[in-house]
Amino acid sequence: MSESFDVIIIGSGPGGYVCAIRAAQLGLKTACVEKRATLGGTCLNVGCIPSKAMLQSSENFEEVSHHFADHGIVVDSIKLDLARMQARKGEVVNANTKGVEFLFKKNKVTWLKGEGRILGAGKVAVDGTEYEAKSIIIATGSESVPLPGVEVDEKVIVTSTGGLELQSVPKHMVVIGGGVIGLELGSVWHRLGADVTVVEYLDHLVPGTDKEVGKAFERVLTKQGFKFKLKTKVTGATKTETGVKLTLEPAAGGETETLDADIVLVAIGRRAFYEGLGLQEAGIELDDRKRIKVDGHYATNVPGIYAIGDVIAGPMLAHKAEDEGVAIAEMLAGQAGHVNYNVIPGVVYTWPEVASVGATEETLKAEGREYSVGKFPFTANGRARAMAATDGFVKILADKKTDEVLGAHIIGPDAGTLIAEIATAMEFGASSEDIARTCHAHPTLSEAVKEAALAVEGRALHI
Ligand code: FAD
Ligand code: NAI
Repeated sequence: MSESFDVIIIGSGPGGYVCAIRAAQLGLKTACVEKRATLGGTCLNVGCIPSKAMLQSSENFEEVSHHFADHGIVVDSIKLDLARMQARKGEVVNANTKGVEFLFKKNKVTWLKGEGRILGAGKVAVDGTEYEAKSIIIATGSESVPLPGVEVDEKVIVTSTGGLELQSVPKHMVVIGGGVIGLELGSVWHRLGADVTVVEYLDHLVPGTDKEVGKAFERVLTKQGFKFKLKTKVTGATKTETGVKLTLEPAAGGETETLDADIVLVAIGRRAFYEGLGLQEAGIELDDRKRIKVDGHYATNVPGIYAIGDVIAGPMLAHKAEDEGVAIAEMLAGQAGHVNYNVIPGVVYTWPEVASVGATEETLKAEGREYSVGKFPFTANGRARAMAATDGFVKILADKKTDEVLGAHIIGPDAGTLIAEIATAMEFGASSEDIARTCHAHPTLSEAVKEAALAVEGRALHI
């Protein structure tokens, strides 16, 4: 007889592994299927964690190469040891994936190693062995969207996966797609010495970001040396002896031009991944954008089968997947799991960082909602000056009548950490005055958040 579980989760990314831990904590007999040799999914193996390791290392290199002298620290003969930097990234990834393995053991989650296939409600096969489960949760994540005419080989034409593995610094890297991956990985290689040109289809970077912040971001990156070709599309790529020749065309059509690169990074988005999972045979429906269709309780149209994370609608973010994992585990255990989709922060881990939560000015205008804006620049923040990190500002959007905080957008040092305060405030339904009247330690970057909240009603103090 096949082994039976309360819950089988397919995929061990942040959605799947967190769901498994929470389900086990709640007393459910839990298994997690993962075909990769290590746990943690895209995020820990080839996504969030390795990219942040390389961002940190390259930021250190940039600091020592260009900014230490301002502090009176003179370092002679700075040398890049890329092999060591890559090895360190591997160690960071290893520590994290092993950490998940430890947590599985601690919580008595069974790792079913191999490729999972759904045989119908309550039945999963893992590399041919059948298991039974009261509930099946699909958490198989996403993959990079291919660009027709630009064939990825993960050596010279790379996705983020190959882009994190380069063993030498490119002379000229062309990034196709001015989104989160393009700008983060573009920053890594630019700091290490590459010329970077970003080709973006739209007229602005990081679609969905508050436009004012997006424009400021473009200006800062241009000042750093990034080159942008906006409103432009890549129509083809030919490999040459030295790299790749790309053909570009204005997005609206028109005269073509060529651009030579030694490395091309394709980063035009990610799409839901469920190859080999047996969705069609199990009769599981997809939505209009080919993601798994779920209701408000993460249930697919097949009873007992649920889906979470990148494979369903919503922002493709690790923390969104994690929170959905917790919510579904709690629902299956008879509790009231819930995710507040209005308060999911997003962060671009460049320098400066760009962070946002909630509504943008554009979405509020589209809704016809009246709002007030409070803004405060880091040039007027003492700590930012001490850090020599004055690029950027905090922007808070609040309801014109009730003063409820509706959204916040930060470009600046440590924006990703600063946004957490505003997200917490929004969870509690705070007004801008609540943030403004909260005592913030001096001198900290968080005082810029307080000042932006004060600015909502025109009473910022330090500007
Ligand atoms: P995934 O993490 O994709 O995990 C799915 C897992 O399922 C994989 O391990 C896969 O092997 C496994 N799987 C698939 N099919 C099967 C099967 N049939 N049987 C067994 N196993 C299977 N998000 C952030 O919030 N912050 C960041 O800083 C960030 N940085 C990123 C950087 C990069 C370069 C990339 C590519 C992504 C980044 N993301 C970031 C996005 C983040 O990685 C995803 O949103 C997150 O990993 C989604 O989690 P998930 O659990 O839905 O799926
Ligand atoms: P993205 O959706 O962020 O950006 C893709 C960009 O490519 C967009 O600006 C889009 O307009 C552009 N584009 C699309 N087709 C194009 C074409 N043919 N030519 C030129 N430009 C084109 O996608 P990206 O950067 O690939 O990242 C995928 C996902 O991974 C994101 O949704 C993000 O949520 C997640 N991620 C999150 C990170 C974070 O939270 N810090 C870091 C990296 C990835």
